[in-house]
Amino acid sequence: MTGFEDHTPTPTRAWVLHPDIASDRARRPAKPALQEAVALAAALPGLQVVGSQIVPLAKLRAGWLFGSGKIAEIGAAMKAAEVELVLVDGHVTPVQQRNLEKEWQVKLLDRTGLILEIFADRARTREGVLQVDLAALSYQRTRLVRAWTHLERQRGGLGFVGGPGETQLEADRRAIDEQIVRLKKQLAKVAKTRELHRAARDKVPFPVVALVGYTNAGKSTLFNRMTGAEVMAEDMLFATLDPTMRGVVLPSGLKIILSDTVGFISDLPHQLVAAFRATLEEVLSADLICHVRDISHPDTEAQATEVRSILTSLGVKAETPQFELWNKIDAVPPDRHDAVTVKADREPTIFAISALTGEGIPRLLEAMSDAMTDVRMRQTLDLSFSDGRRRAWLFDQGVVEAEEQTETGYRLSVLWTARQAEKFSFM
Ligand code: GTP
Repeated sequence: MTGFEDHTPTPTRAWVLHPDIASDRARRPAKPALQEAVALAAALPGLQVVGSQIVPLAKLRAGWLFGSGKIAEIGAAMKAAEVELVLVDGHVTPVQQRNLEKEWQVKLLDRTGLILEIFADRARTREGVLQVDLAALSYQRTRLVRAWTHLERQRGGLGFVGGPGETQLEADRRAIDEQIVRLKKQLAKVAKTRELHRAARDKVPFPVVALVGYTNAGKSTLFNRMTGAEVMAEDMLFATLDPTMRGVVLPSGLKIILSDTVGFISDLPHQLVAAFRATLEEVLSADLICHVRDISHPDTEAQATEVRSILTSLGVKAETPQFELWNKIDAVPPDRHDAVTVKADREPTIFAISALTGEGIPRLLEAMSDAMTDVRMRQTLDLSFSDGRRRAWLFDQGVVEAEEQTETGYRLSVLWTARQAEKFSFM
């Protein structure tokens, strides 16, 4: 014993496979899909991706997913690389999982399992954690999840991948169901508290601008640039599972609340939709939605389509104004840079920007001010009897919706713009 042992856990050696299914190819081109899966895996602490490959599949094989030749070939490659965990970027049935794990002598995680792990690692609010736990439990209920052991010891928290071994894996369904019921109760409580918070925030007369976008588009970087806040910005997916809100004073002097949200991802496993939605409810009440896009990404069009369709399915109102921010313009090759900028400039709601260098940001902020100046918010005001001049001003502006007399004065419900609110505060 030296007393100086290295306690840093050795990273788990992982291999990423993207099954390239013929019928799926048009919808999900293999190369970018594999890149995304590798990036997802790299976002997990304790994992080291030592290899990855695309596996073309003419058809799915019920018991084994892949053909026997491929299985042998992949097995040999993984053995040589001393792989302990294989991540399959697709759906793997419990039977396929069991067979492949036995054959390859590695742990296997499919796409749902992988995203669950990331969500678990990233959940910050109480509600986020509960939603992820719930999703993990329903997933676990359908299969015995085999975890890789290193992460298990290191993280300890969730008990999904990090369960205490075979006995947990064999826990009977009733125990899981009871836990699910308990979680749902807790969630209902948390949702109620959040509603109270939101009601409290509704009293704050600032328009809300929500940043949404595909994972890794640069939302947190832009959020930081605009707020100067220390929100984690890393080359990691899902740096923001729960919305982060912060007040920002635009150069015009107008105050807004900027809200950062979790990144979108294609083919979100259905168990995770609720967890994901819970983090996005803020977007529904936003006064302006800024769709941040990585315009330098080869898949930028497909990503944008995905984001738009999720926004629609969330129930974003058609009348909510939307900006498209073509981010990472600095990373667009010089020969395309000007063409992209010119194209963006032609549209009043599209902005070519770089959250990294600041290019295009002043114009964006100006446009935000303009768009927000007309947004009207509802607010309740209490005035004393001696506040006659201010009360008259409100009526003069035509913003009073209702008024009642109280013991000390008047309670007014007003619908007004941020400008009017600001003017009033100085009166
Ligand atoms: P999620 O939390 O996964 O949804 O990601 P996000 O959209 O918040 O992205 P984030 O801000 O974490 O940025 C992802 C990566 O893109 C980081 O490595 C950033 O440094 C980089 N990035 C962000 N904006 C720009 C930009 O304008 N130009 C370039 N070149 N890189 C950028």
